[in-house]
Amino acid sequence: MHQARGPRPDADNADMVEDGTDKGGTDKGGTDKAGGAAVGTDELGVLRRDYRAGTLDESELAQTWLEQFRQWFDTALACGLREPHAMVLATADAGGRPRARTVLLKQVDAAGFVWATNYGSRKGQDLAANPRAALCFSWVDLERQVHAEGAVEQLSSAESDSIFAARPRGAQLAAWASPQSEPVAGRDELDRRLADVSARFTRQVPRPEHWGGYRLRPVSVEFWQGRGDRLHDRLRYRRAGGLTGAPAVADAVNDALESHPCTEDDPGPLGEARADGRSWVIERLGP
Ligand SMILES: Cc1cc2nc3c(=O)[nH]c(=O)nc-3n(C[C@H](O)[C@H](O)[C@H](O)COP(=O)(O)O)c2cc1C
Repeated sequence: MHQARGPRPDADNADMVEDGTDKGGTDKGGTDKAGGAAVGTDELGVLRRDYRAGTLDESELAQTWLEQFRQWFDTALACGLREPHAMVLATADAGGRPRARTVLLKQVDAAGFVWATNYGSRKGQDLAANPRAALCFSWVDLERQVHAEGAVEQLSSAESDSIFAARPRGAQLAAWASPQSEPVAGRDELDRRLADVSARFTRQVPRPEHWGGYRLRPVSVEFWQGRGDRLHDRLRYRRAGGLTGAPAVADAVNDALESHPCTEDDPGPLGEARADGRSWVIERLGP
């Protein structure tokens, strides 16, 4: 048996809540039916914070979602946030069964958000059956999040090659060794697979066919800034005429929009912004 080794919290990450009470290791909850110690409402209530770090107003919003994202991403970098390029990616299979997981942003431009993964993974299978997804960057220390929704496409082989080439050798070998999302017999099996591919590729490691990038082409990008008393600011760039919500209708409309440049007949309540040669509307959402 291996001894489990957990991450060690650093000073910034210690188990201290706002009032300085040490909650680490305390077990206040009862035992739930699944057999574990429950985490109770009282215990969680102590964590409540009011969000007062900033505001987001229409007057300060950039012309395009990309410019706005760039500004917020630069702030996240400047503040030293850990893994500011980490985003939660939500997909669903053909039957609508959802799954969310974290991936790293590899690139973002007017065409959309790019990440890389194993095409045979659960997310890869979901996207093959249902090529739509949602992304969420959660920058909690800044009391901000960014959401994007849209259609997903695989990158060209050349684009995936260049992302793969930029990976350290160890990560390249791991892409060969890991049957991502499949059960494996144990850690030993992974180590054995890694040893095998290390011996096989003594020099350059080619990109495996099953590994590559995806791009989400957004039909909406929402910028969320926490505000006091939970009356937050939410401003969304939406492809003019594009819909979020009722899936069957929204998907049909968004599919049509993705294949044809949209018209400018829907200026929205706050006017329109332009990105990628297409029209976008900006609208405020109830928090
Ligand atoms: C911070 C962080 C970054 C990650 N980045 C990636 C990534 O870029 N690509 C990837 O395939 N998995 C990444 N993972 C692992 C995924 O969250 C996930 O476990 C894996 O992709 C399998 O997901 P699936 O079975 O739903 O397809 C990351 C996990 C964390 C916590």
